[in-house]
Amino acid sequence: KVLVVDFGAQYAQLIARRVREASVYSEIVSSKLSADEILALRPSAIILSGGPASVYADGAPSMDTAIFEAGVPVLGICYGFQVMAQGLGGTVARTGQREYGRTSLSINDSGCLLASMPNTLNVWMSHGDSVSKAPKGFKVLARTAGAPVAAFEDLGRKLAGVQWHPEVLHSQWGQQVLEHFLFNIAELTPDWTPENMVTEAIDSIRAQVGDRRVLCALSGGVDSAVAAALVQRAIGPQLTCVFVDHGLLRQGEAEQVKTDFVAVTGVDLVVADEKDRFLGALAGVSDPETKRKIIGAQFIRTFESQAREIAGDKGIDFLVQGTLYPDVVESGGGEGAANIKSHHNVGGLPEDLQFTLIEPLRQMFKDEVRAVGLQLGLPEEMVWRHPFPGPGLAIRIIGEVTEDRLDTLRQADAIARHELAAAKLERDIWQFPVVLLADVRSVGVQGDGRTYGHPIVLRPVTSDDAMTADWARLPYEVLEKISNRITNEVAEVNRVTLDITSKPPGTIEWE
Ligand code: XMP
Repeated sequence: KVLVVDFGAQYAQLIARRVREASVYSEIVSSKLSADEILALRPSAIILSGGPASVYADGAPSMDTAIFEAGVPVLGICYGFQVMAQGLGGTVARTGQREYGRTSLSINDSGCLLASMPNTLNVWMSHGDSVSKAPKGFKVLARTAGAPVAAFEDLGRKLAGVQWHPEVLHSQWGQQVLEHFLFNIAELTPDWTPENMVTEAIDSIRAQVGDRRVLCALSGGVDSAVAAALVQRAIGPQLTCVFVDHGLLRQGEAEQVKTDFVAVTGVDLVVADEKDRFLGALAGVSDPETKRKIIGAQFIRTFESQAREIAGDKGIDFLVQGTLYPDVVESGGGEGAANIKSHHNVGGLPEDLQFTLIEPLRQMFKDEVRAVGLQLGLPEEMVWRHPFPGPGLAIRIIGEVTEDRLDTLRQADAIARHELAAAKLERDIWQFPVVLLADVRSVGVQGDGRTYGHPIVLRPVTSDDAMTADWARLPYEVLEKISNRITNEVAEVNRVTLDITSKPPGTIEWE
């Protein structure tokens, strides 16, 4: 594996992802580890990431030079490049000349790292200090106006570095820089493929579980589906999946899980039909936070009673969670007991439920989860699903949640989703909530008659991680089609509006 040493930049995750896009497994480690600790993890290559500090700042993170002498190939990026230069006897100058953003790079000797690239490239820079003299044994490959030494390599020792950020998309030929390091300098084999991800995950699930019982709460989302499918492959008969149908799902959703998912995986599935319980508890409630709390509590009740029914007194040994690698990195962990993020995934599991977690996606990024899902034979529609919130349509009905209102919203939502798919735009947007303003009415005219119906709000957004979002610029023709169909086909709706608010200040959902 390739270890990405994180010097505190937001770029370490991106580097790890780019390395994996080259089909090489990579993990992020803290720069607080000593060189010995890092080498003890037996990396096949090391990448030192960028970081916000100056190598001259008090307490600036550094790296014991033993890391460069162990025969392990090392690539330094930005701050990592300067740490490497300084550690090996080069000079890092406080030029006071900063370079940020797009910068023109001149290649004077492409060497191995920059082989077959044009003489000038636009690259993405973000640095204050610069390397003014390369350490002995290194060949200087390129320069910019503010960085006399912008790239170097020492093929004998398999060490190389670049001042810019090859991992960001704005850097031309960035992926090639990383691949030249991985394949031509470090001579690694690209073997992190979906097939191998599946094989490795299955081996480790088997080793962890032995012959004990496993429970998995399916939410209908991609992560829990892929996690369940992996566990099913590994230890099939010992797994039971529970899917809570709370009546707040979209059209066809429960059926998709029941038929598509079970047909492909052969999983033992319990569908808990809890519509009455959830709708009963929600009757008369229109405050968003109260709705959320009620739904969370009902999830817990349902899950507890299902667990009792399935396992009886023997209890459950393991619970499957769809935790992804970014969650692990963000919660600062690699080691130790997993944080239980049940409330994100399945709408709230009881904290005192006794179980050990199985997290087969703990080492994967979202795109890898999708690749593994496809490898396991899950249908494309399931693998490419947009995120859908645990509380479901209840937080997309502004006002009290009733069966009739759910029906209305379900029809409008199905039309919007259908037209988005027909226009082949599903993968261009992050999510497409459709919201029913159930407490608002507006006057319209249809045929010769006056109508007094409800507005629907379309809320298509683009985003990378749901933390921030922008409203999606869907083509007018697609919006027109959706609007025409909803107002014609959904009896209660006589008006369709488009939400053009980014997040912040809006949120993605309306409640
Ligand atoms: P907001 O509305 O806060 O949503 O911008 C951010 C993302 O989170 C989803 N979301 C939820 N997911 N349980 C979930 O599993 C919830 O209670 C919940 N609330 C919001 C939302 O769909 C978006 O992707």
